[in-house]
Amino acid sequence: MRIAEPASRQPVAAPLLEVRNLVVRYGKKGAAAVDDVSFTIARGETLGLVGESGSGKTTIGRAILGLQPVTSGEIWFDGKNITRASVAERRSLQGDLRAVFQDPYSSLNPRRPIGEALAEPLRVAGVPRAERSLRADEALAAVGLPLGSGARYPRQFSGGQRQRIAIARALVTDPRLVVCDEAVSALDLSTQAQVLNLLAELRTGADLGYLFIAHDMAVVEFLAQRVVVLNRGRIVEQGTTAEVLQNPQNHYTRVLMAASPVPDPDEQARRREAWQALKATAPAA
Ligand SMILES: Nc1ncnc2c1ncn2[C@@H]1O[C@H](COP(=O)(O)OP(=O)(O)OP(=O)(O)O)[C@@H](O)[C@H]1O
Ligand SMILES: [Mg+2]
Repeated sequence: MRIAEPASRQPVAAPLLEVRNLVVRYGKKGAAAVDDVSFTIARGETLGLVGESGSGKTTIGRAILGLQPVTSGEIWFDGKNITRASVAERRSLQGDLRAVFQDPYSSLNPRRPIGEALAEPLRVAGVPRAERSLRADEALAAVGLPLGSGARYPRQFSGGQRQRIAIARALVTDPRLVVCDEAVSALDLSTQAQVLNLLAELRTGADLGYLFIAHDMAVVEFLAQRVVVLNRGRIVEQGTTAEVLQNPQNHYTRVLMAASPVPDPDEQARRREAWQALKATAPAA
């Protein structure tokens, strides 16, 4: 065991992901964008990471994905310390640890049919050429895209469909953890609901964990078993989704909850007012 467990507790398998005392600074003298953040994600678990704009959510996601250097602290994935993984080590992780970002259009090559975009991570993961297009087609079918979609280009799909393509590309390698950074934020509410349902469906029976980053509590409530609330780079609250939402301990968490968009315009207006009232009374941090 790497971690000392209380004697009363049975030894448990290492978590799928463990972030320990993570600190990320942009520039040598800058303030910490992420300051002493620790959390775990169990196998098959969805952890929601919420906080307002600039609170450090994307920075944490990027550090886990190896896209952002870590100032101090550690990131463990599947029992391995990946904090400063080499390029080769990252490459070998690529199939197990994947990402879906807010704007798939910018990450999909416009000149490449999407079937090829899905075959690429399979090539990196060492899947034989003969299997790749079959696996790509299966992944596209799993996210509800019509047969033959693999031959089409990104511009030939709607925003919601492109987000499904991004999800298919994340899942095609059969990963253990997917970092979803504002993966549904750009979608209208009905498309958002479809994509959230799809994400929930895809994890069923797949032992698939998500780090689900969103500024919207309602979206997190739908998908996450546990929630971490971030404010200015620090965790202000964490717990099961039910605990945090039913009985938020922190003023900031209540502010975030009141700011969540809802489909009913009257309810939305009420929440906006409540939000503004809460913001006005927020203690200066
Ligand atoms: N490349 C960068 N260089 C310098 N500072 C950065 C950089 N990226 C982010 N920051 C700063 O780090 C802090 C956290 O940013 P981050 O993007 O992680 O927030 P976020 O919670 O994802 O916000 P949003 O909800 O708007 O996406 C912010 O203060 C931001 O200005
Ligand atoms: Mg962000």
